[in-house]
Amino acid sequence: MAQAPVLKVENLSTRFKTGQRGKFVHAVDDVSIELRSGEIVGLVGESGCGKSTLGRTIVGLEKAHTGKVFLDGVELNRLNGREARERRRAVQYVFQDPYSSLNDRQTIGETIEEALLIGGLRSREERAAQITKLLDQVGLASVVKDRYSRELSGGQRQRAAIARSLAVNPRVLICDEPVSALDLSIRAQVMNLFLDLRKELDVAILFIAHDLGLVRQASSRVYVMYLGKIVEHGPSQELYDNPSHPYSQFLLSSVPEADPTTERDRELPMLAGELPSPVDPPSGCRFRTRCPLVADRCSLHLPEPATVSPAHSSACIRAREMHAKRRSIFVEHRAA
Ligand SMILES: Nc1ncnc2c1ncn2[C@@H]1O[C@H](COP(=O)(O)OP(=O)(O)OP(=O)(O)O)[C@@H](O)[C@H]1O
Ligand SMILES: [Mg+2]
Repeated sequence: MAQAPVLKVENLSTRFKTGQRGKFVHAVDDVSIELRSGEIVGLVGESGCGKSTLGRTIVGLEKAHTGKVFLDGVELNRLNGREARERRRAVQYVFQDPYSSLNDRQTIGETIEEALLIGGLRSREERAAQITKLLDQVGLASVVKDRYSRELSGGQRQRAAIARSLAVNPRVLICDEPVSALDLSIRAQVMNLFLDLRKELDVAILFIAHDLGLVRQASSRVYVMYLGKIVEHGPSQELYDNPSHPYSQFLLSSVPEADPTTERDRELPMLAGELPSPVDPPSGCRFRTRCPLVADRCSLHLPEPATVSPAHSSACIRAREMHAKRRSIFVEHRAA
């Protein structure tokens, strides 16, 4: 039997007020996702599609308009006060900019110790031992505990922020572009840290990223998001080999080559039109205004997710046809 998800998000919507009455930014629109322990799951999509809002709503930094978040089968939104705080602590957010989670007036040791205290570790000796262990786990020497975050390099600082998140024994880490701010040379090292942690701690990781190459390497499954909605999801290898939603095909056709010399000559595909506003998203399929395959019926109904292969589904009326063809529509259009 398949392992039960540690995190289950059901029909979640998050909206923000605009200056206009009755108008909202529909940042996350009826999204359902699941994470299992020991799994790294990618969440990709262009800027403004709602990735951070989804992550922030899961950890309770934003309030869900509708929908449910379950942690180990317990619905988080239903809990209040202390119980809610304690349960939610099991879901930790790792920010792109580690300054957001590190207090500059505290040493790294003090920051981690504070988290351990919140987690209920009363004994001073145990806390000291735990700080050393956590620093070691993220690949930092124990001397770092007496340093301030501004004294660390970008990579060290992100490692320290991760150690702080781990101090409360999380079951889930929401990592929001955790390596984007780092130099290329240290990105791979911090990525390897996530891979190690997943194995060692059996934690579930939602890995939010622009860089599809990174997601492909690190995650076993991927969700593709467009204008507040999940348009396709599936096992990474399968989704990358055979993307079956026009938007995913577009995203993947614009992944830069590993070799920068070929990248320069590469013609990138274009999407028609602008990204629509999440205040007034298109009716029916959200992608229809930019889709090369658009048909009349796309404006009438939101396409139901179609299963194209095991655990792989795409919310497009032509999903099965695209999956069977195994050829990107963007390649065809370029050749035409
Ligand atoms: N606090 C807020 N108030 C109003 N609108 C917001 C707020 N936070 C986000 N939004 C809007 O919600 C939409 C989704 O934003 P979000 O930051 O979740 O996107 P993202 O996918 O994380 O983008 P990026 O890749 O640039 O980080 C955007 O249109 C954004 O402008
Ligand atoms: Mg974001």
